[in-house]
Amino acid sequence: MSGSSPGYFVAFEGGEGAGKSTQERLLAETLVAAGHDVVRTREPGGTPAAEAMRHVVLSPEFAGLDDRAEALLYAAARGEHVARVVRPALSRGAVVVCDRYLDSSVAYQGYGRGLGPDRIRDLSLWATGGLLPDLSVLLDVDPRQGLARFAPRDRREAEPGEVHDRVRAGFREVAAANPDRYLVLDAALPVGEIADRIADRVLADLRDRA
Ligand code: TYD
Repeated sequence: MSGSSPGYFVAFEGGEGAGKSTQERLLAETLVAAGHDVVRTREPGGTPAAEAMRHVVLSPEFAGLDDRAEALLYAAARGEHVARVVRPALSRGAVVVCDRYLDSSVAYQGYGRGLGPDRIRDLSLWATGGLLPDLSVLLDVDPRQGLARFAPRDRREAEPGEVHDRVRAGFREVAAANPDRYLVLDAALPVGEIADRIADRVLADLRDRA
């Protein structure tokens, strides 16, 4: 948890084409309208150095990058992002809305690449000094439907279907193991309904803290 810090940290997780970015934007707009100090960010990325690492892990230029090197780069980018952007924002009391966080590594590297969920989680916990979101929203989507929304844009989206099936199962396992931290929603629901349910939960959490 962001724990003793005064801010609130919400992460969006899910497979390709789940609509995370849309929901992240809608939540941020709702929170700004409600008068909150909101910081929108994403992983991998969020700082110049972490965006450079994003380029290395996602560009087809580096197709065939070693799986462990890839996992370390995601964790390194996360450590940099948390230290420079997320923790300072939480310390000043902001709401941080992040498109993907640590459980993306658990699902993609831990389950998808078969590197082991516990090892991958521990690596990112080490990199971030143990920072977990107050709320993780899983937009659960059948990979075949999600990927059908667009042509592959990066080397990750070009992976075979069974990798995406393992990623989806991984996300669901993590969510089931952490029910207090997770809100799981069917990404096939109407956009407005998903947005309302996320906003209800976040606004209620923020009221409880006030
Ligand atoms: P993102 O920009 O969220 O893409 P999309 O809109 O397609 O979901 O994420 C880029 C890719 O990076 C995505 O395929 C998932 C992958 N990824 C990992 O494999 N591990 C990680 O830790 C993170 C944060 C992302």
